[in-house]
Amino acid sequence: MRLVFLGPPGAGKGTQAKIICDKYGIPQISTGDMLRAAKKEGKLDPKLVEAMGKGALVPDEVVIGLIAERTKAPDAAKGYLLDGFPRTVPQAKALDTMATIDLALALEVADELLIERAVLRRTDRRTGQIYHLKYNPPPSGADLEHRADDQEDVVRNRINVYRAMTAEVLPFYEKSGRLRRVDGVGDVAEVTKRVLGALGN
Ligand code: AP5
Repeated sequence: MRLVFLGPPGAGKGTQAKIICDKYGIPQISTGDMLRAAKKEGKLDPKLVEAMGKGALVPDEVVIGLIAERTKAPDAAKGYLLDGFPRTVPQAKALDTMATIDLALALEVADELLIERAVLRRTDRRTGQIYHLKYNPPPSGADLEHRADDQEDVVRNRINVYRAMTAEVLPFYEKSGRLRRVDGVGDVAEVTKRVLGALGN
C-alpha cells in the first residue's frame, strides 16, 4: 500500500502516520524529518535552513530528489506512507511518475487548534517520539526538543503557506478519486479510528 498524508502543520500527520505504519509494517517517509536530519548533520544548504526557519517551502526539485531516492530503498518495496509530501501540484505530478499512489488522506483541523498543537509540541531527541505539553505530556527524563519552526508567528506562516500552495494538492487527488478527508479533531485514538475507516478497516 502506498499512502500520502496531507494536512496543515500540526494536523497530526506525524502522530497518525507512526501508528498506521506500525500497524501495516510500512515505513513512514517524512520530508520534514529528512530535511531536519540533514540540517542536524550540517548537510542542508543554509538557504534551505533559512526557508524552513521562516515556514516557507523548500524547492520542489530538492524534495522530489529526496523522495525518488528514499522510495527506492528495500524497505519501501512493499509500500510506504509519505508524510508531508507532496506539498505542491508539481510534487504530486512527479510522484505519480514514480509510483502508483493508492490513497491520499487529508487530516482536517481548524487553524486555532493547529497553532496550539504545534506551539506546545515537543519531540524526544533520542526516540523521535512526538509529545504535546497539554494533550500528551512527555515522561520525566525525556530529552525534549522544541522545533525551530514551532514559534507561533512561524506556525501562522506555515498555515498560510499550506492554504496557498498545498491545499491545491487536494483537488489533484480528488479528481482521480484517491482523496479521503478525515476529521482530525478529537483525541489521538478517535482520529486513528477514522483514519483506519478511511483506509477501509
Ligand atoms: P513538516 O515536518 O512536514 O511539518 P508540517 O507539515 O508543518 O507538519 P508538522 O510536523 O508540523 O505537523 P503534523 O501534522 O505532523 O502534526 P504532529 O503529528 O506532529 O515540514 C516542516 C518544513 O519542512 C516545512 O515548513 C517546509 O519548510 C519543509 N518541507 C517539508 N516537506 C516539504 C515538501 N514536501 N515541500 C517543500 N518543503 C517541505 O502533531 C502536532 C502536535 O499535536 C503534537 O504535539 C502532537 O502530540 C499533537 N497531536 C497530534 N494529534 C493530536 C490529537 N488528535 N489531539 C491532541 N493533540 C494531538
